[in-house]
Amino acid sequence: MTENGRPGTAVVTGASSGIGAEYARRLAGHGWDLVLVARRAQRLAELAAGLRERAGTAVETVEADLAEPADLDRVAERVAAEDVALLVNNAGINGYGPFAEVDAALLTKVVDVNVVAPTVLTRAAVPAMLARGRGAVINVASLLAFAGSLPPGVLPHRAVYGGTKGYVVTFTRTLAAELAGTPVRVQVVCPGLTATEFHLGTGETPVRGERRVHDEGGMPAADVVTASLAALATGEVVCVPGLEDADAVERLAAAELALRQAAGTAAAPRYRAAEVPDL
Ligand SMILES: NC(=O)c1ccc[n+]([C@@H]2O[C@H](COP(=O)([O-])OP(=O)(O)OC[C@H]3O[C@@H](n4cnc5c(N)ncnc54)[C@H](OP(=O)(O)O)[C@@H]3O)[C@@H](O)[C@H]2O)c1
Repeated sequence: MTENGRPGTAVVTGASSGIGAEYARRLAGHGWDLVLVARRAQRLAELAAGLRERAGTAVETVEADLAEPADLDRVAERVAAEDVALLVNNAGINGYGPFAEVDAALLTKVVDVNVVAPTVLTRAAVPAMLARGRGAVINVASLLAFAGSLPPGVLPHRAVYGGTKGYVVTFTRTLAAELAGTPVRVQVVCPGLTATEFHLGTGETPVRGERRVHDEGGMPAADVVTASLAALATGEVVCVPGLEDADAVERLAAAELALRQAAGTAAAPRYRAAEVPDL
């Protein structure tokens, strides 16, 4: 809480729809002032007006394309400001499609929005939070971060998307370990299929028209946000909203430890006799 008894300002990227809009509504309901970021200014303006009226919070909107360096700099400057106590890096695009066929420029954009932007914004936020002695960063990843061994089929073609979300998971977990013992908390939330606009396009351009959700089912965005905020309160670093067996995260850490124990000084026997293969 700040001196005026209010929780402070939260910056939410990708607040014009889906999970981000839900974070905005929920945080406003708990007295947070907001900075809402996305490309669709009209959507942000409508959401902001409703929140100001219903929740009585201060809401700024920032029209920005996080794949554009100048826009990202502008958002980073706002994130670094004194009043920001929570950053939600939620904006994301999928760029789905067979790897050899997807437009290479779109894949670059997926990396810019899903990896570069959260990294730059977290770097902007954390020093001021450490200096003030309070703050949190929530990064939205995906269960597809853990789907590297699965072929497409039911799942989409997603090599780059899955890779970016894997980055978000490892980045956040590693940063959480680095910041342990400080008052700054970081969390990665890994939703499964969620009922939003996400699957209505690849994300290269915003989804136009009325608010819709894809017709593939999925968890309500509200449940994802409920889980994320509950996990923030308990200090869970990896939040998987649909996961009942919370020990699965511990087992992931144990499997990683087994791999890391292989950091020996010589290659394992099965590699030693290998020939250079004909390709
Ligand atoms: N829906 C799912 O099944 C699912 C599952 C796992 C994880 N996720 C993750 O959840 C997060 C939120 O997605 P969602 O499901 O809520 O989908 P969504 O409804 O499509 O929302 C995505 C948000 O990101 C913003 N955004 C996209 N590109 C942007 C850019 N270049 N600059 C600024 N903002 C940008 C969009 O706003 P504008 O278009 O107005 O810019 C929108 O507000 C994403 O990180 C996604 O990867 C979703």
